[in-house]
Amino acid sequence: MKIKKQKLRKKLILFILITIAIMGGLFVYFLSSQKEDTEVLVFYHWWTSSGEQAALNALIEVFSEQNPDVTVIPTPVSGGGGFELIEIIKPLVFAREAPDAFQMHAGYETKPYFEAGLLESVDNIWKSECLEKVIPEVVQSMCKFNGHYYSVPIDIHRYNLVWYNKELLDKNNINPAELTTWDSFFEACDRLKGNGVEYPVQIGRDWTEAHLFESIIASQGIDFYEDWVNGKITSPNNEMLLNSLKIFKKYMSYANPDYSSLEWNEVTERIINREGAFNVMGDWANGEFKVSGMVYNKDYGTFTVPGTGKMYGLVIDTFQRPKYIKHATNLERWLKVVGSKEGQDAFNPWKGSISARIDTNISKYDLYQKLAIFDFISAQYMLPSVVHGSGAPESFRVKLNKIISEFATDLDINKTAKTLTDYTKSISKEFTTEWQLN
Ligand code: GAL
Repeated sequence: MKIKKQKLRKKLILFILITIAIMGGLFVYFLSSQKEDTEVLVFYHWWTSSGEQAALNALIEVFSEQNPDVTVIPTPVSGGGGFELIEIIKPLVFAREAPDAFQMHAGYETKPYFEAGLLESVDNIWKSECLEKVIPEVVQSMCKFNGHYYSVPIDIHRYNLVWYNKELLDKNNINPAELTTWDSFFEACDRLKGNGVEYPVQIGRDWTEAHLFESIIASQGIDFYEDWVNGKITSPNNEMLLNSLKIFKKYMSYANPDYSSLEWNEVTERIINREGAFNVMGDWANGEFKVSGMVYNKDYGTFTVPGTGKMYGLVIDTFQRPKYIKHATNLERWLKVVGSKEGQDAFNPWKGSISARIDTNISKYDLYQKLAIFDFISAQYMLPSVVHGSGAPESFRVKLNKIISEFATDLDINKTAKTLTDYTKSISKEFTTEWQLN
């Protein structure tokens, strides 16, 4: 009897010990995971130029004020437009090794991750932060798949802009307000050249060339642009396509020959230094002029790409909620700051862009941005950018980059028209969004 009781007691003690051990283990695991979650936020981005960094730092500052216990670990992957970052991020996300967050454009660019089931919806953030009330519909729709939100926007950039050095234009009696057609633009280039500005237009490597090309496509009219984003330009004899390529070719005849080695911000630098007068670029360039101490309308200025005055070429940066991340709570906090008025009004004044929210504190923005807010409200057409991820399938944007970058060198109009339209036809099924821009 005694032995039996002893055995029972032993079993009971063992059971209690094992239970304590398991509970203890679970408790430690819970604590450590909690600790991990409250300590760190890792995210990837491509904001490495001076203006971009200033903007990102301002955003992180807002986040850190609200979340003082969280260490933010930004991981930069340089290369404008995010082409390099995507190469790194895609395998990570598909291997279920996603960082807590990563920069990405709204629309098509997010689609592969959504389709592979690697993103969670962010409907709850849009709801708790009441984002639908303050974010314009055109942006809302680009953040959704199947009626659910999958991204939170941080900004609205405009891409169809020509940036200029004011001193150079003044010296050569060029009035930028008159440069509303390609003919008048090229006349201004001739005048600059005649007066000793060897390369009046400055341009950079691959995607910056595709960026220029897309702006020229827009200059051919909204119907043509609509066909472009819907993958409907499939004839190599399309007159507007050929015309766009001709304009591009002419543009290159005024451009710096070392274009293929320059990042976009190095090109802006050349405009700042008066090495060239014009550069077609998105308004992230505004951030570079700003950090260099230049003042809008005094030292530099901008006008819309000839023929695109009524258009607002949209480029929208966003963050998502990837699955299988390590610090979900911190991502949730990050997304809230990204979507917030305070976060956006800290970030965008440096970034050059406008806030994605309509309740923005306008006094924080410079003259260019105030005018951009007005233009955004009054623009007749909103254009999703292909080069910056929203307008067309990811494969198209990547291929376009290669094709146009080759064209910048060989300037073979017919070959380029054929390669581009052949490729468009070959991936016609991937154009799943039917944009209606008109
Ligand atoms: C765009 C991006 C902007 C800007 C630019 C240059 O694609 O949306 O935020 O940084 O690239 O890198």
